[in-house]
Amino acid sequence: MNTIARTLAGATLVLSAALPAAAKDFRLGLITPPPHIWTQAAEAFGADLALASDGAHSVAVFPARQLGNEAEMLQQLQTGALDMAFMTVAEVSNRAPDFGAFYAPYLAQDIAHAGRILRSDTATDLLAQLPATVGVVGTGYGMAGLRQIVSRGEVSSAADLAGVKLRITPFEPLLDFYNAIGAAPTPMPLPSVYDALANGQVDAIDMDAELIWALKYYEHADTIVQSDHMMFPMVGLVSARVWAGLSEEDRTMIGDLMAQHVDGTIDSYIAKEGPWLEQIEATGRTYIKVDDTFFSDAVASWNETWSAKTDVLDDMRQVAADTAE
Ligand code: BEZ
Repeated sequence: MNTIARTLAGATLVLSAALPAAAKDFRLGLITPPPHIWTQAAEAFGADLALASDGAHSVAVFPARQLGNEAEMLQQLQTGALDMAFMTVAEVSNRAPDFGAFYAPYLAQDIAHAGRILRSDTATDLLAQLPATVGVVGTGYGMAGLRQIVSRGEVSSAADLAGVKLRITPFEPLLDFYNAIGAAPTPMPLPSVYDALANGQVDAIDMDAELIWALKYYEHADTIVQSDHMMFPMVGLVSARVWAGLSEEDRTMIGDLMAQHVDGTIDSYIAKEGPWLEQIEATGRTYIKVDDTFFSDAVASWNETWSAKTDVLDDMRQVAADTAE
């Protein structure tokens, strides 16, 4: 039995005894827009589940925050009002701080390394705490690209970000990072970002290559900083209440298929991140590539802060060292 299967089996034990199979129309929510890799993976998961269950099950996918923001969707998963979600680990880390360890700045050397970390047993083992701590079952990890900075003004050093209103995904590890830099981090969910950057409500954003390119954030920027400073994991979730009502056979089918489709996003980003960044660079904006030295002691400061917030940081670093090339 692989570690994901072990995790799911463990979740099953703490929830309830298996029930007979029953046809079900599941609802799956996510915040990404329809063409986004996560949304495409959710649609493909639904199609495969319908096939594997001979049409007994279907999945209606609700993209682009149709069911609410991630905090609201997580609440719906807890009550069983929502069946499934593909969600940022960022949101989950707001309830389960151990997941903050994934955001150690420069934990991953590059996007492929981020994928190897997410496919490790240490990462999978973290999912085991989700039923008890958050009320959801985590079936496996996906990801988006590494994080970059898009700025309306010129940026040549981290000092240029001091006091700058910089949009972040609303979660603590990123907040701590930009506070350590001396920026003015502004938590803002994804759907609000384009307008906020366009109308100057924020002067910079923390974002990944796919969305900088696909949603044309670069159009409102003078500078792109390719910093690759953090990975951005996603997790496939099923409401623990809903999981408890599934047969053993359905748990296996749903758990395996969902894990397969979220994992597939890792391969997509590994293949596409480079070409997206090249296209962004070719737009002619000022484009600088930086490493951890750009952020001077902000990285060390983050590490110190988060050593006190989670015990798993050392384990995650060990995985990163073991899987580095
Ligand atoms: C973001 O908040 O930047 C984000 C959320 C989901 C997918 C990709 C990016």
